[in-house]
Formats: sequence, structure tokens, C-alpha cells
Amino acid sequence: MAEKEVVETSEAQIAVHWQEEGYYYPSYEFVAQANMTDPGVYDRFSLDNFPNCFKEYADLLDWYEYWDTMLDTSDAPCWKWFVGGKINASYNCVDRHLAKNKNKAAIHFVPEPLEEKYEHITYQELYVKVNEFTALLRDFAGLKAGDRVTLHMPMLAELPITMLACARLGVIHSQVFGGFSGRACADRIVDSNSRVLITADAYYRSGTLLDHKQNADIACDLAEKDGQKVDKVLVWQRYPGKASSPTPMVEGRDYFVNDLLKDYYGARVDPVPMPAEAPLFLMYTSGTTGKPKGCQHSTGGYLAYVAGTSKYVQDIHPEDVYWCMADIGWITGHSYIVYGPLAICASTVVYEGVPTFPDAGRAWRIAQDLDVNIFHTAPTAIRALRKIGPDEPAKYNYHFKHMTTVGEPIEPEVWKWYHKEVGKGEATIVDTWWQTETGGFLASTLPGINPMKPGSAGPGMPGIHPIILDDEGEMLPQGAGKAGNICIRNPWPGGFQTIWGDRDRFVETYYARYCKDPNSKKWEDWPYLTGDAAVEAEDGYFRILGRIDDVINVSGHRLGTKEIESAALVCQEVAEAAVVPVNHEIKGKEPDLYIALKPGIEASDELAQKINDTICTEIGKIAKCRKVWIVPDMPKTRSGKIMRRVLGAISNEIDEGDVTTLANPEIVASIKTMVQS
Ligand code: WT7
Repeated sequence: MAEKEVVETSEAQIAVHWQEEGYYYPSYEFVAQANMTDPGVYDRFSLDNFPNCFKEYADLLDWYEYWDTMLDTSDAPCWKWFVGGKINASYNCVDRHLAKNKNKAAIHFVPEPLEEKYEHITYQELYVKVNEFTALLRDFAGLKAGDRVTLHMPMLAELPITMLACARLGVIHSQVFGGFSGRACADRIVDSNSRVLITADAYYRSGTLLDHKQNADIACDLAEKDGQKVDKVLVWQRYPGKASSPTPMVEGRDYFVNDLLKDYYGARVDPVPMPAEAPLFLMYTSGTTGKPKGCQHSTGGYLAYVAGTSKYVQDIHPEDVYWCMADIGWITGHSYIVYGPLAICASTVVYEGVPTFPDAGRAWRIAQDLDVNIFHTAPTAIRALRKIGPDEPAKYNYHFKHMTTVGEPIEPEVWKWYHKEVGKGEATIVDTWWQTETGGFLASTLPGINPMKPGSAGPGMPGIHPIILDDEGEMLPQGAGKAGNICIRNPWPGGFQTIWGDRDRFVETYYARYCKDPNSKKWEDWPYLTGDAAVEAEDGYFRILGRIDDVINVSGHRLGTKEIESAALVCQEVAEAAVVPVNHEIKGKEPDLYIALKPGIEASDELAQKINDTICTEIGKIAKCRKVWIVPDMPKTRSGKIMRRVLGAISNEIDEGDVTTLANPEIVASIKTMVQS
């Protein structure tokens, strides 16, 4: 008994170790201009008013025909929104803005090379480019509504143009992140049965003009072997008319877009009125196992949801300059660089390269040059910028009224740096929690209404009703401070419709666990499993602890990897921290901690000890790490996420699998030597 007490720490105690922080309030200036300041919005979007509350978002759009059924649940859990409605996404993002705003910049394109000029594409220019390319897609590539086309494009203005041209015809686009390999692209071509691939010949990344065309060749070859022939590859040129890639064009298959466009000069194509529930695009995302899942997003519901959240959470006004520093190849870019902002007539920035090229001040110079006042990025980028240039933001004359963090839990230490240094103490921050599957935000503060709390996403969005369930399906009471599986009780318009071609996997992955009756046609019986663990505080704010599979069970206790990492970051020397579970005979799992230090700081055994001691002080002995490995750099994906899977394999001395797609594969061997020798 006594022995048990030594290791026993309640879940609640653990959960509060990444403590609830104090509130930060938005400035009066911010609130005075905010798009949403009426707390009554939460009543309007309460479950009593569900689903009709979402009319408020749909009314931000122009419809050819209004819907007759707000929410059709007859094919549960494949929900259909705005059934009977007819709409076109391209029309809503382009044409309808011309009358009043044709001279306004729709897209500010920032090339990575310093010597190249920014490009400012007005709504009129966007209209012309989208129309001409639409004509090409229809008349040259033979594409029509319902066809799928795979895009493998880098961050060029031609990417949104391509997406909007597809949407104009009702063609379903499937954009594959530009940094992914030809193999990854091939898998997605095959899964979506695309016979057309749209790509670019080259793009800049960290000062190098990369040959991207070669990936198209690999993708087409591999796709054909797997049974999907690509008969046309449309290649946008980084420099129109000039060869930037040494990879030759394949006769009869590959075409330069700018050669073909000459035939479509002046072409205008009427947008095709699409049923609201017609798919707009596929976005592939990885599951826990197996092949990537093609999340199928709708036209009307999705567009309504991203337009509403761009207006009320991103707080975008017509006169703002909005920069979301994500890649359009991810859902963040689709929803909050392209569709959401353009639907509400914003000026959106598209930056080709890496935020730290050629130096740590680049992002802030872009902000200064364009007078960006709304900035959106991920904790991983914030940590990187903090690591290499903690004092850089102060050197530049820009002012953000609003900033977003998205994609992973943000450690309060990092949040505070973001607020103080990047936001200069003036910006209102939203921490938006959501997923590829959900189309738009699930939880966030409304910036003109709720105070901010570092490390917490905030309450459920209006119309989104999260609950935390334990493993038995019992609801954890609000404010219990207990970790559990966060689910959403109700459908919402931005949610994905299904996994492309795999309804069974869709139901199994997201609904099977807590569904009360698989034959039920009532949405109330189908809570959506997000796959995240979370804690709900007394004030109704949700603190996301990470994926359920990121939770480390030490001696039967749940430890969020993020909590340990956050504790490590309390040490001023630490720039980045990553925790992985190591198998342990008695405890089940033990955390192993990987650390990257700030520049100029020397690794030492004393420092490793100090970090481990800090974790014990911050969380308790049960979180003590087996080892603290101070490494020269973390293994990272091309999008900057730390590859915990690789670190976990090294710690557990198992095969780390394919690491060739990492941004820095060479680091793996040196970490392995350190850990396994
Ligand atoms: C997972 C989804 C949403 C666009 C980018 C990621 C984690 C996302 C937050 C946040 C804590 C977050 C969750 C989620 N996540 N936002 N604000 N705080 N965690 O999309 O690749 O589909 O990843 O990212 O674990 O399940 P994704």
C-alpha cells in the first residue's frame, strides 16, 4: 500500500501540471474594431438553435439557389448541409467582388529571392487568370464537374489560381503538399483516379531553385504501375518561357501552361452552379496506420464555415493585410490562405519560401513591407523564429492587431514570447484547434469577446459543442481538470463528408467508438472522435494535450508529451523539446527527452540534469525522463514538424523506417550514435 502511494498521482494532478495560466485581455482598440463583439453569438449558436444557426454563415455567401434542407442526416454519419442549394466557390471568391473591389489586391505574392519583386494580383487580374485557366482545363484537358485532378504545386500564386479554376468547373482538386515526394503524389493520384496532374517546374526553397518537374515524372511512372495512367501533365513555369528544370518534357503528355494559355486569351467561363454538397476538394492526411485518407470536403458547407470563421475568428476586414504563413498544401492553407479570406474579399499573402531565409528577420521584413496586420502561423515556426532570432521582431516597424497559432499545443513560455516579441504586446492572439478533417476551427477564443489564456485553445466555436469522454464513454464534468477524449457532439458545415472511396474507414475511425446505435439517423447518437486528449477548465476553455497516441502512460498515469516538453522549455537554455515514450519493463512507458538548445549555449551533463530536475519540479517525479539527450538539431518534416516517430524508434532501438523524406535526414545517424552507443 505504502509503495503504491509513492507512485500514485491522480490524473487531475497531472493534468494541471501544465497549469491554467492567467488571462490576457484584448486591447480596447482591438475590440472597438472587431467583427464580432456580441457575446449573444453563443446563444444564437446554442444546441437549441442547431442546425439553423449556421444560416448566419451561409448568408455570407452568394447562392444561385437557396437550400431547402439545412441538415440532412438520412445517411448518418455522412451529413449533408444546405441540401438543394446551388453555389460556386470560384464565383464567391472572385467574381462577386469585382463590382466594388476589382482594383484591390487579392493576392500579394512574395518570391523567396530577395532581388525579385513582389507581385500584387488584383481581383480583376485574378478573375482573368482564373477564367483563362478554366477554359484550358475544360477545352484542352477535357475536365468536367466531378472529375478529380491532382495538384502537386509549390507556394506560387498559380496554386490558388489553379484551385479556383477547378472550383469554377466543379472539378475536385486534390493538392499534394509540394514538399512531398513523387511517391506520395503517385499514391494520391491512384487513390483519387486522377488522369491530369498539375504541377510547376521549379521553386525556391532556402535559396535554391529546386527541380520540381522530376517529381511529376516519378509520380506518373509509379501511378501507372499502380493502375492509374496520367495522360496530361500541365506544368506552370516558375519563369514563364524560361527553362528552370533540367527534367525534359514528355512528348504528348507534358505541356507548359503558359504556352497553352496563349490560345485562351480573353476566354471567360461561366461558373458552374454546383449542389452545395458536391465535393470541392480532397485533402489527404495520414492516419495512425496504413495509407493516407482522402478527406472529402463539400462546396457549400465548407465555404460557409471558412468564410464565417475567417470573418469572426481571423477578424479580417476589407482593409486588412492578412498573412497566413502556412503552406497551401495543408488544410490551413486551403481554408485560411485561399477559400476563407478570398470569400470575404481579403488581401492574402502567398510567400514562396522559408520564413528564415536568408536570415531570421525575413518574415518581419515581409510584414513591414506589406504592412501586414494579421499574422497566422504554427508553434513550430514560432519556436524556430524564437530560437534563431529572439530579438528580431523589435527591429522592424510592423504592427499586428491579431495573430493566430495553430497545429499543435503551444507551450505557455512560447506563447508569451509570441505575444510580447512578435505581437509587441499589442496583438490579440487566437489559438485555433482543429484538424484536416474538420475544415475549419473547432475551438478558439473569439478575439473580440473572450480573453486569451496561454496554452489553452479556448471554448468551442459558436455552433461547435465539444465534450470530453472517458474510455467508457462517460462524460467528464466541466472543470474536472481531468484528461479524456475530446469529441464533438454535433455535426457542423465545415466537417468532411467522408474518406474518399472508403466510407467504412470513415465510420470506423471517427464514429465507431462512441456511437450509441449504428443504425441511428439522429446526429445526437454520433459523437465525432477527434483523436485528441484534452482537459476542460472551469471556464470552459479546452487545453489540447495532443493526440491520444501521443499520450504516454507511465505506471498507469497519463502524461501528455506536451506537458513534459512545456516544462523543459521553462529552462531558458532550451529552444525545442520533444518527448517520446520508451518501453519499460515495469512502468510500461517512460519518457525520453530530446532537447535542442538556443544558439551559443553549450551542452553539458549539468545542463541535462538541470532540465530533468526542472521537469520534476514542474510536474512531479513521475514525469522524470529516462534520459535527456541534447542533440544538435531535431529530425523534422519538410513542413517543420518534429518527427517524434523517428526519435521514438531511436530511443527504443527499433528500425526508424524511411527517413529520406525528412528535411534533414543526416541528423538521424548522429542522434542514433549518441543514443545507442
Ligand atoms: C491535429 C490535427 C488544423 C490545421 C493544422 C493541423 C493538433 C491542431 C491545435 C491547437 C493543440 C492542435 C491536434 C489535431 N492541433 N491545432 N491549436 N492546439 N493541438 O491539422 O495535420 O490535421 O492535425 O493537430 O492534435 O488533432 P492536422
